[in-house]
Amino acid sequence: MQIDRNTLGDGQMAQLFANNREWAAASLARDPEFFSRLVSQQAPAYLWIGCSDSRVPANEIVGLAPGEVFVHRNVANLVLHSDMNCLSVLQYAVEVLKVRDIIICGHYGCGGVAASIQSGSMGLISNWLRPIRELAEFHAGTLEHLRGTARTDRLCELNVVKQVANVANTTIVQDAWHRGQKLSVHGLCYGLGDGILRDLNVSVSV
Ligand code: CO
Repeated sequence: MQIDRNTLGDGQMAQLFANNREWAAASLARDPEFFSRLVSQQAPAYLWIGCSDSRVPANEIVGLAPGEVFVHRNVANLVLHSDMNCLSVLQYAVEVLKVRDIIICGHYGCGGVAASIQSGSMGLISNWLRPIRELAEFHAGTLEHLRGTARTDRLCELNVVKQVANVANTTIVQDAWHRGQKLSVHGLCYGLGDGILRDLNVSVSV
């Protein structure tokens, strides 16, 4: 493999480096200890499991700085019991970082959720989204009365509720609760159109 040395110096990548230097300088100007404090440890109180969608940046929409939220994102914010990536994040967050709140954050207008109920295959992603399609089949009685965006938005909410249950049922969270560790799981849904987070009122804790 050949590395193109110009790639990082030109065009849109160069802009990122310029932005980064500006951000680092501004962060230091605001708080001279900012980076030295983060080097020594991270102690986030929250684990965020959200969608990869570029319009739902975890830290930004809840006003948290680096070091304050541990983040896992994938297409349509799924927590599957066979996903080593997500489960490893969950285990580290619960057992090592000892976060107090786990947030499953879906969002209205989720392309992954919409794609899950479209007909026809989209290749690999259809396999990933299959659990949402099954969820839609399970809730067909509710969803059939809704049309268009109302239907997908309701499915976005139902998907979050399902993922809250999935997190709560993992051995990781079950074991934590048996140990008496203080830990809550919450389901939220974010509005792309207004920037507002809705609490789906499905929080679980013991
Ligand atoms: Co999405």
